[in-house]
Amino acid sequence: MLERLQREIAAAGGWISFARYMELAVQAYYGRDDRQFGAQGDFITAPELGSLFGRTLAQQLRQLNTPRILELGAGTGALAETLLGELDCEYLILETSGALRARQAGRLGGKVKFLDRLPQAFRGAVLANEVVDAMPVHGVGWRGDGIVERGVSSDLAWQERPASGALLEEARAIEVPPPYDSEIGLAGQAWMRSLAERLEEGVIFIVDYGFPRREYYHSQRSMGTLMCHARHRAHGNPFERPGEQDITAHVDFSALARAAREGGLEVLGYATQAQFLVNCGITDVLAQANLENALHYAPIAAEAQKLLSPAEMGELFKVLAVGRGVEQPLLGFSRGDRSPTL
Ligand SMILES: C[S@@+](CC[C@H](N)C(=O)[O-])C[C@H]1O[C@@H](n2cnc3c(N)ncnc32)[C@H](O)[C@@H]1O
Repeated sequence: MLERLQREIAAAGGWISFARYMELAVQAYYGRDDRQFGAQGDFITAPELGSLFGRTLAQQLRQLNTPRILELGAGTGALAETLLGELDCEYLILETSGALRARQAGRLGGKVKFLDRLPQAFRGAVLANEVVDAMPVHGVGWRGDGIVERGVSSDLAWQERPASGALLEEARAIEVPPPYDSEIGLAGQAWMRSLAERLEEGVIFIVDYGFPRREYYHSQRSMGTLMCHARHRAHGNPFERPGEQDITAHVDFSALARAAREGGLEVLGYATQAQFLVNCGITDVLAQANLENALHYAPIAAEAQKLLSPAEMGELFKVLAVGRGVEQPLLGFSRGDRSPTL
């Protein structure tokens, strides 16, 4: 991986954008094998904790009566497995990692259809849990004398150049006190625009950690939001062991909402994960689980605590729903909708 990166950086004249670096490193990381997930892996996601997240999300999908689900970046297939047990609908997966796709196919068998690229047109629900945070971001620095792009030199270190083009334009619209470093997710915005244009009818649910723009570029967050994960240790150095650790950036939900609008969609709701799950009836799902098997209640209650607690995933994780042709207000945003903050 190191050699490949150094070759590419040399061929590009000694410098590549951080977005390109992140793209290569994250692709290598997810392509490596399928051992990233779970207690023995590098991190744990909501669907990996158990079935509670999926069973609660199913309540929202039931309300929509969706004929089809497209899941992007399905990890080990845990969410798909839970949803297929709850709902009777067609299930499509678009997964960029060959190793994870093989694992999903092994787990889900013929119950899902794999896509190689986004469909030209789609009707139904699109799900992306912890996928946008893995999309490449550009590095940006606001300095006293102008705005720089923070790229990567051949010795795998930050190197600054004057920012230009779309990045400069986007960065100019963000007011922060210099010196200030952060990220701008141009790739995530482009991805959202193209997804939006292809959605003929239905809803896209983005679940991830992040903030509205005003909070994202808060004066106190002057070192950006990059986070790397290996063996349940989180740190901020993206150049450590490239390809062997996950690299993520928090999601600027205002930018995603704007991109969706540019693609012709409406914002249908934005809430913390805790609020969304409570609105979808997580307490009923918990009570049902207790009735089904009281012995399993303690682990499920612990799972609820992780999903809902402000100190865990409840506050930092958000749910954004954007869509087209959806008349009824969505169950998940019936209370505490924060879309005006976007
Ligand atoms: C942190 S994992 C989350 C997996 C799963 N959704 C979960 O919650 O457990 C990120 C997933 O997104 C996939 N991925 C990354 N970039 C992607 C992209 N541009 N399109 C689709 N999947 C992508 C990865 O291969 C991986 O399956």
